[in-house]
Amino acid sequence: MSQLAQPLISAKTMLVGLIGWPVSHSVSPAMHNAAFAALGMDWRYVPLPVNPALPGAVGDAVRGVRAMGMRGVNVTVPHKQAVLPFLDRIAPAAQAMRAVNTIVVEEDGSLTGDNTDAPGFIADLRGHGVDPAGLHALVLGAGGSARAVVYGLAQAGVQRITVANRSIERAHQLLADLRPYLDAIRCQAVTLPDGLAEVADAPLIVNCTPLGMTPHVDATPWPLELPLNPGQTVYDLVYNPPDTLLLQQARRHGARAIGGLGMLIWQGALAFERWTGRPAPVEVMRAAAEEQMRTRKGQPSTARTAKEIQVRLATPADADAISRLHAMLQSCHAEALPTFFKQPPTEAFSASMVKDLLAEPSNVFLVAVVDGKVVGYLYADVSPAQETSMTYRLERFWIHHIAVEPSHRRQGIGTALIDVAKAYARDQRIEILALSVWTFNQAAVRFFQAQGFEVYNYRMWLHLARAVP
Ligand SMILES: NC(=O)c1ccc[n+]([C@@H]2O[C@H](COP(=O)([O-])OP(=O)(O)OC[C@H]3O[C@@H](n4cnc5c(N)ncnc54)[C@H](OP(=O)(O)O)[C@@H]3O)[C@@H](O)[C@H]2O)c1
Repeated sequence: MSQLAQPLISAKTMLVGLIGWPVSHSVSPAMHNAAFAALGMDWRYVPLPVNPALPGAVGDAVRGVRAMGMRGVNVTVPHKQAVLPFLDRIAPAAQAMRAVNTIVVEEDGSLTGDNTDAPGFIADLRGHGVDPAGLHALVLGAGGSARAVVYGLAQAGVQRITVANRSIERAHQLLADLRPYLDAIRCQAVTLPDGLAEVADAPLIVNCTPLGMTPHVDATPWPLELPLNPGQTVYDLVYNPPDTLLLQQARRHGARAIGGLGMLIWQGALAFERWTGRPAPVEVMRAAAEEQMRTRKGQPSTARTAKEIQVRLATPADADAISRLHAMLQSCHAEALPTFFKQPPTEAFSASMVKDLLAEPSNVFLVAVVDGKVVGYLYADVSPAQETSMTYRLERFWIHHIAVEPSHRRQGIGTALIDVAKAYARDQRIEILALSVWTFNQAAVRFFQAQGFEVYNYRMWLHLARAVP
């Protein structure tokens, strides 16, 4: 993302920041500084590492926020509870959660502790078109984020809440602590995972455990054999990786799948509004957070070497794997454009259809293999475009699909497939690789641009029935 110009730092620059330990991997500085720049505000957001091992450090840090004329700070692990005694006022959400994620320095210099995690979660859920009012919500986990989610859901009018946790005592404790906020909501605690079967049909399932988070991307809180259904929404608070195994399970069963980055963005947007009194530029913050996630430094690299990824032409024996990968691709498209794309399973790209397409001489199927398993494929054809009165005849290698198993994303597999496609086209003396990209798929646009593609062609249509006259 291009960097927007910010005014030079001066005595007038207003400061906010993040106290926690560690804070070096936080996406918040990028998100907030992009928002300030977009609005031309002379504000800065700085990471402030506060070492919990230093006696008195948390109190000193909170007092320092006021003493140094800052407008406020976010608070993250491990200080969300530790800051409580140093505040003048605790907002109801923070009181309920016994945790503060945002401190606001009020006009009179007093300090208010608030928590934007719960409203952030609800804002993102609603932003995805899911209204929790009247629903049965199944919350997996009973830690800090589960408290925020249960409180948010209660405020949003859920009818029933089940908390599933590995240690059931902690689930009971959570419900007992939040009892004053749960009104007439029917509440229940079950053991994770054994108790899930009896509540597995809950229309809203929220993962508040770290299962599936990098580097443990093969973990999931949902037993693989336990079904989900198309009427359900699965929200995973984990946002790194953006597509967790749980979200893949959800999509495979036709359920709606939503990742946790939106909650992170919304809790930041709400903190921004508390400090500045201005509406947050949420889309700017989203773009900055997504960019930050892609370019995180200091993360253990997951990139694989070319030796580990074998790309070869597909054979009929790969048809099942290609068909399965296509179903995931289709489900992402159906989720983004439900009026256009059908949810899998569809007849398109069944294994037998893939076998037929493989037999067509003009089609090219490449598969990427890691540890003996097909984890990605690319489907293209090399039929020439005819010259028309408006365009030249350009022979092109037209890429119809490229898909990578979500657990193998960001490892160079897409790049390896494109590299082999480029080599294949060069061998055939074809000068142009081409494709079209759907506007919703900005990740694909960025990926292809990184591979050297220029994006010419978005797809658009007008729904006459929905259009404003
Ligand atoms: N999207 C966002 O904005 C956002 C915000 C906050 C948190 N998060 C994410 O949410 C996740 C949870 O965060 P948290 O602050 O709530 O953590 P936490 O307070 O440490 O709670 C962790 C919960 O996960 C359960 N758990 C941990 N390991 C488990 C395992 N191997 N098997 C079964 N259950 C396990 C724990 O169960 P026990 O009680 O039995 O130990 C506990 O209920 C993290 O991945 C975090 O990054 C995202």
